[in-house]
Amino acid sequence: MPQGRIAVLYREREGVSTPGPNKVGFFNLQGNSAEDLNEVGACLGARLDRPIVLVGMMGSGKTSVGRRLARALDWPFQDADWAIEHAAGTTIANIFAEIGEEAFRQSERQVIARLLGEQARQVLALGGGSFVADESRRLICEQAFSIWLAADIEILVKRTGRRDDRPLLRDGDPHEILSRLLAVRTPTYEEADLVVDSGAGSLGDVVARTLGALETLIDKKAGQ
Ligand code: S3P
Repeated sequence: MPQGRIAVLYREREGVSTPGPNKVGFFNLQGNSAEDLNEVGACLGARLDRPIVLVGMMGSGKTSVGRRLARALDWPFQDADWAIEHAAGTTIANIFAEIGEEAFRQSERQVIARLLGEQARQVLALGGGSFVADESRRLICEQAFSIWLAADIEILVKRTGRRDDRPLLRDGDPHEILSRLLAVRTPTYEEADLVVDSGAGSLGDVVARTLGALETLIDKKAGQ
């Protein structure tokens, strides 16, 4: 596929400014069928040689987007929460209940370091609190490209309401808890290489937006 074809799939929305030098997230799509995504993804996947790490709040779509993005790139997909559960042989809710959040955070840091070291080409979805840890953020900045999937609070509340297995949302009003966590975490999420709006459109739209943002990042790195 000629590389110029990628740009044809995306068009910047008129009048919407990008929020920072590396930050692109506003694309109107001209094609986001599975075929389009796989075609663009295969081309981008061949040009990238670092893990792509998805960060963002609970309910921002990291696992769904990550899985679909990995398929488009033809890369393996890893989910840090699943890896923690696999290593511990129990659920995250049980880990919180039995050994507490601090021990969970410690195993989260260890698992992320291990997964990052496993292979260069992988899409890795993190739990919502992982990027806040300085040690994990530093490793990710050094070894990977990070993408903050950002969605507004009403969307996060709605999506997280579909499951009741997130320990941090069990004791209190989810809207209040998510708002507080989002406010505290936003400055660290802003350190990601890219921010992509994951609140609007279909899964295919978000994945296409993510591919578009990645293309911009690759072009920027290539020009440096
Ligand atoms: C957490 C998010 C969860 C999970 C744990 C803590 C957080 O992952 O890691 O319950 O601190 O935001 P998801 O973001 O995948 O729900």
